[in-house]
Amino acid sequence: MEIKGSTNVVGLIGHPVEHSFSPPMHNAAFNKLNMDYVYTAFDVNPNDLKTAIVGADALNIKGFNVTIPHKIEVMKYLNEIDEVAKLIGAVNTIDFKNLKGYNTDGIGAIKAIGEVTNVKNKNVVIAGAGGASRAISFYLAKYGVDQLTILNRNVEKAQKLANDVLDSELIDNVESDSINNMNLSDADILINTTPVGMHPNVDDVPIAQAGDMHDNLVVFDAVYNPNETGLLKQAIEAGAKPVYGIKMLLYQGAESFEIWTGKKAPIDVMQEALIKYLGL
Ligand code: ATR
Repeated sequence: MEIKGSTNVVGLIGHPVEHSFSPPMHNAAFNKLNMDYVYTAFDVNPNDLKTAIVGADALNIKGFNVTIPHKIEVMKYLNEIDEVAKLIGAVNTIDFKNLKGYNTDGIGAIKAIGEVTNVKNKNVVIAGAGGASRAISFYLAKYGVDQLTILNRNVEKAQKLANDVLDSELIDNVESDSINNMNLSDADILINTTPVGMHPNVDDVPIAQAGDMHDNLVVFDAVYNPNETGLLKQAIEAGAKPVYGIKMLLYQGAESFEIWTGKKAPIDVMQEALIKYLGL
């Protein structure tokens, strides 16, 4: 990659950012397509967020990814927010063409699952009710899921998210319960958004008993370290189809890439860069 006077800059803002997988993934894509772009990461202190956005706009930066702790706060400084991102209440992508915010995390999950099955008309169980679950739940509703059950350790949080998703009127059928009451016998898709099973606690699984996993089930685990979590191992053993967490990272990035550049993202190259960077 040759950086020139004409090179377009995109990047990540967060605090911290130094362990991000996004720079290698996006730069591999720009290289592959011979595009005059570079992706870098900016550690932005929360107190400097507004200055960073105004400054980036003035510097003609083309796009940002946004990560913790700025995903909610940054919305104040944008001109426009995508409809679903507004419902989610968080953005992870900014397009400086119109200073518009998007949330590609949820689309990333839908596309990851989409490699195996279409979510339309499906019965989906989602574990967790935090930021990732929220982003994915609204996209599941938008993409026509028939029934959504949100399970969480803190049941009130699951109820609140279920009510918010119902209020969007994108879906009629949303339930909530304790994560200990998971029942998969009627489910088509199980999604884990909790950190349970993440390195170093690789033997932990977010469900009490995997007994009702079945071979028509698709199991997506948003945990990507390790690549094959305990939950995915159980799924494979039960004959269910696994969807690996790395795919969500890949597709959220691909979606951001397409928003900024208008070009189709080179998925294979981005995946290869991710696997290499994460050592999977
Ligand atoms: P993220 O942005 O990754 O979703 P988050 O907003 O902090 O992160 O949400 C983490 C989710 O994982 C929450 O639903 C949390 O459950 P609680 O609301 O009950 O805290 C869930 N979670 C975290 N650790 C967990 C554990 N050990 N067992 C079960 N659920 C857990």
